[in-house]
Amino acid sequence: MQKILTDEKDTIKLAEMSADLIKKGDVIFLYGELGAGKTFYTRHLCRYLGVTEPVSSPSYVLLNQYHAPDYIVNHLDLYRLGDADEVFALGITEFLENNVTIIEWPLLAEELLPFPALKISFSYDGETRAVEIEGKYSKELEKIWH
Ligand SMILES: Nc1ncnc2c1ncn2[C@@H]1O[C@H](COP(=O)(O)OP(=O)(O)O)[C@@H](O)[C@H]1O
Ligand SMILES: [Mg+2]
Repeated sequence: MQKILTDEKDTIKLAEMSADLIKKGDVIFLYGELGAGKTFYTRHLCRYLGVTEPVSSPSYVLLNQYHAPDYIVNHLDLYRLGDADEVFALGITEFLENNVTIIEWPLLAEELLPFPALKISFSYDGETRAVEIEGKYSKELEKIWH
């Protein structure tokens, strides 16, 4: 499914609708160039998942962890990693189970990670922002997105 994001409110709405579908154990992949809106979406998604701590970009720290009522939300940005071995060295596979994991720039780890419940590709050409949504929740999102 493809949608235009007219303004920040649309991204926030997408975050709210996603949060209603996301369950413990889900992995979410976020694609898109720098500034496309991956962290912005994550910040609002975390809020709707019940995270009260401030959400910041993990580009330098690689991994942030936040507390939602029933699980930990892992927030990763793999942009700076060199190869899949480095991703493996982070030990990500161990903390996926029973948590929710949001991964910005997941390209390097695609092979190593479980199939994502939601795959969102953000695009921004300087004028128009849009998203392409794939994964098992995309049909549901399409139904409820008006
Ligand atoms: N519709 C929109 N969705 C997401 N971000 C938007 C939107 N409109 C403007 N922005 C702004 O664009 C920036 C996106 O930055 P960020 O989410 O950090 O990008 P990324 O994590 O993809 O590098 C934010 O400063 C945000 O306020
Ligand atoms: Mg980011």
